[in-house]
Amino acid sequence: MKKLLSVILAVVMVLSLGTVAFADDVPNNEKPVIWFNRQPSNSTTGELDMDALTFNGKTYYVGFDAKQGAELQGQMIVDYLQAHGEGLDRNGDGVIGYVLCIGDIGHNDSIARTRGARKALGTAVPDASQGKTEIETIDDVDPTAVGTNLDGTSSAVQDGAITIDGTEYVVRELASQEMKNNSGATWDAPTAGTAIMTWSASFGDQIDVVVSNNDGMGMAVFNAWSKDNNVPTFGYDANSDAVAAIADGYCGTISQNADVQAYLTLRVMRNALDDADIMTGISTPDAAGNVLSEDLFYYDEETRCFYALNGAVTAENYESYLDATAPNPAFSNQLTEEDAPVKKVWLDIFNSTDNFLNATYKPQLENYDDILNLDVEYIAGDGQTEANITDRLANPSEYDGFAINMVKTDNAASYTSKLQ
Ligand code: BGC
Repeated sequence: MKKLLSVILAVVMVLSLGTVAFADDVPNNEKPVIWFNRQPSNSTTGELDMDALTFNGKTYYVGFDAKQGAELQGQMIVDYLQAHGEGLDRNGDGVIGYVLCIGDIGHNDSIARTRGARKALGTAVPDASQGKTEIETIDDVDPTAVGTNLDGTSSAVQDGAITIDGTEYVVRELASQEMKNNSGATWDAPTAGTAIMTWSASFGDQIDVVVSNNDGMGMAVFNAWSKDNNVPTFGYDANSDAVAAIADGYCGTISQNADVQAYLTLRVMRNALDDADIMTGISTPDAAGNVLSEDLFYYDEETRCFYALNGAVTAENYESYLDATAPNPAFSNQLTEEDAPVKKVWLDIFNSTDNFLNATYKPQLENYDDILNLDVEYIAGDGQTEANITDRLANPSEYDGFAINMVKTDNAASYTSKLQ
């Protein structure tokens, strides 16, 4: 019995020594939290979730300017149509019909792209649910999916008009839907591939243009149907496969500068971990000479959000975008371990099958984690439930910081509650 007691005492002492050893550790709720790609916000109204964005003094969001990118995508589509009028109206009915693949009806990026395309094509109507009665900017546009609208009577869009080579055409959104699979994953490329087969089977010769909220879905449609039918198809993200497909007739995409975003995600993390000025290596060069040029991003101090800017990728310039995973030499200089000791970071990607995040963003993160001396543990979600990801954050004390990509933008508390 005595022996047992002394063993218990010894165990208790070791345990309490352990506690002492960790006593100086930073509490989990004071560690850096970097939200990225899915901005904490209300998925119905788009309103930013400021509780999540100010969780602690080391919390930031990194994304890109969704509105600027969406306007660019709309303009790119219209420019293409103006320049390629011949044969565009495939069945000669005087209507340029397009179908629209919507990513996630509750995601700011997706909403902006739907609005940008509609505004540029003249099919936009004011968003009555927000009390809008006229359209000044794309924010005023109703982003609701129409389902099908072959006769042009949907209340979520109107018929637009475009003059090409002196001929006036009606522009009609024939169909649009959120590409969500049966298990609930959004931006789902296979769903888009199936949708185009359904649409084309019932009104194929009316479809003159395909617009997609991203390249994953756009390429699924291109490969399943529009490539063989020579129907102009447009996406977003500038994934390598989509850029390469421009040589085969994919008409254009938008680069959201994943190199800049991936660098910013980990750079802001690094600066927060080091208690350094948050702009180190961003607007001011760090010790290794890394710096971002001003035309690539901006920072909104009030909401603690960093935004990369977008660029259009078309037949004119695609060759310089072919490798979407190449690190940018302007901010690829290795930090020394003296300046930046190795830190451990937990980072999740909400959906292991999302094309952009896995084919473009993650390889870029992997470029910069080494350069910034961050030992990142990558967690891949199922794209459906937050719990699938948060269950794998069982022991936050093992990490120095957290980079979070939510399934649903409303769900920030599922993560921050783990850090309380
Ligand atoms: C990308 C999409 C991606 C989504 C995931 C967007 O910014 O453009 O391709 O599916 O992020 O959140």
